Amino acid sequence: MNNLPLAKTPPMGWNSWNSFGSNISDELIRSVADKLVELGLKDAGYEYVIIDDFWSELERNGQGRLVADKKKFPDGIKPLADYVHSKGLKFGIYSCAGTHTCDGYPGSFEHEFVDAATFAEWGVDYLKYDYCYKPVHSVGENLYKRMGMALRSCGRDMVFSVCNWGCDNVSNWIRESGAHLYRSTGDIQDNWQSIKSIAESQLDRECYGGTYCWNDMDMLVVGMDGKGDNDFVSNVPDRLAGCTETEYKTHFALWAMMNSPLIIGCNLNNISDEALKILSNREVIAINQDLEGRGPYRIRHWCNPDHAFALIKPLCGGDYAIGMFNLGDNASEMSLQFFDIGLPYSSGYGLSFRECFSGKDEGVFTERRAIKLEPHDCRIYRCKLTKVNSL
Ligand code: GAL
Repeated sequence: MNNLPLAKTPPMGWNSWNSFGSNISDELIRSVADKLVELGLKDAGYEYVIIDDFWSELERNGQGRLVADKKKFPDGIKPLADYVHSKGLKFGIYSCAGTHTCDGYPGSFEHEFVDAATFAEWGVDYLKYDYCYKPVHSVGENLYKRMGMALRSCGRDMVFSVCNWGCDNVSNWIRESGAHLYRSTGDIQDNWQSIKSIAESQLDRECYGGTYCWNDMDMLVVGMDGKGDNDFVSNVPDRLAGCTETEYKTHFALWAMMNSPLIIGCNLNNISDEALKILSNREVIAINQDLEGRGPYRIRHWCNPDHAFALIKPLCGGDYAIGMFNLGDNASEMSLQFFDIGLPYSSGYGLSFRECFSGKDEGVFTERRAIKLEPHDCRIYRCKLTKVNSL
């Protein structure tokens, strides 16, 4: 352990759940580690390779230890974690605060300390910790504190990723449990309605996330294109699976601006160029990974249509990130009055706008910025205060 805090910025990585569900294997996870490097995603900041549910045998061994599924992971977990580490990446695994995981595998309830020790022996760097099968009379807050304690006793630095879907007022007590990120909503699905409802449900809750304990809006569906092999995520009744490129871009921009961890959920073995471009956008990632870790606030001008709003996030060094979003279904004009973000005309300052997806400098604006946005589209700007006249 190096005695430095973990998760100074929102964790970034890849998780098996969205695209693979139960279809995981040693071979798959190794190929993900290879791909993260080959595609340049490691260099862009994606660091953790995380196995979700379905990785263990249905029973613990004679010593009460968790055992990896012998067919999926014939050599066990340690050599796999070693392989991931050999690529300069970190390795994550999954368990549950209840008696069983959501899919019926052994959970860590009353086994917290032995499981933390096992994970440490295997070289695990990140634990996602779910909430299924929590005994009704056990208090979730206490169970997360227990695993937080167990991880701190195990002799290895491990990011603690809590997944209780926003239940039991988790945001009020989670930071003190030692968790580094916590899920604040139900599961994401590969469709626009899911993205929109998760984002809108978290817009005014930004003050609950921050450095060392982030509000996790769930894994990214960017690039899944309706092809995921997990019915919970892709095969949702009455909804068409998959999103347009614009929708995936807006999804990524929202998660980045709102300081959510960026955990890729698509299949990297057949990722499209468009999805790779979105996920690799260094300027958008830099806004998410900004060292001040301030959440954005929302401004919706009275004359803007419903579902059209701006998010404003102060960045370290004096810049501001400004996102303009149209989550509605009609093309809209929308505007941001600088007065509303603390910049009256009388200050003598304007803002220079650089759009992060296009990489274009769009010039200096005073008083207001108005743009037209297609349905579900957005712009993400890095803005600098610029002197425009001397008063
Ligand atoms: C859910 C969790 C998902 C995934 C799934 C596995 O509770 O929110 O992200 O981990 O369990 O069964």
